[in-house]
Amino acid sequence: MTRDFKEAEHAVLCWLATVGADNRPNVSPKEIYADLDPDRLVIADIASGGSVRNIRANPAVCVSLIDVFLQRGHKIEGTAEVLAPEAPGFAELAAPLLAMTGDAFPIRHVISVSVTRRTPILAPSYLFHPDRSEAELRADAHRTYGVRPLSE
Ligand SMILES: Cc1cc2nc3c(=O)[nH]c(=O)nc-3n(C[C@H](O)[C@H](O)[C@H](O)COP(=O)(O)O)c2cc1C
Repeated sequence: MTRDFKEAEHAVLCWLATVGADNRPNVSPKEIYADLDPDRLVIADIASGGSVRNIRANPAVCVSLIDVFLQRGHKIEGTAEVLAPEAPGFAELAAPLLAMTGDAFPIRHVISVSVTRRTPILAPSYLFHPDRSEAELRADAHRTYGVRPLSE
């Protein structure tokens, strides 16, 4: 596991971008995902008919996920496959997603992304104010989003 791989571990949403057969781009949020290892990201298709349709036509995908408090994350590029429940490997790849959903939502498919590239995403503060600590960045983000951490 590379250092970069888990830097976005506090991201709670990822954004999945796909392109349709008609060349129209599409992006939508997904909360039920697991960044399993440096080479594999899985996403639950619960209500994502558009993404599934696009991937079947064009498997190239891009996913971004950021830790909004740390203000950094990753762009992940890869090739996606849509696995139905009867497909080989579905049970193993769906397991971490089912652990998140419990009985709350049925998973229609697993969107399994074979990762070809991970690129860091940094807020401009990292570039223009490199002297600022992570604690300062977090405190800024807490003010921006109007939240108070439980541990304070
Ligand atoms: C916060 C949030 C989390 C979501 N998580 C998921 C998810 O994990 N899986 C899913 O299929 N849909 C999820 N959705 C719903 C899809 O984003 C939504 O149905 C979207 O319209 C699907 O677009 P698509 O069909 O173009 O992929 C989520 C929506 C929101 C607002």
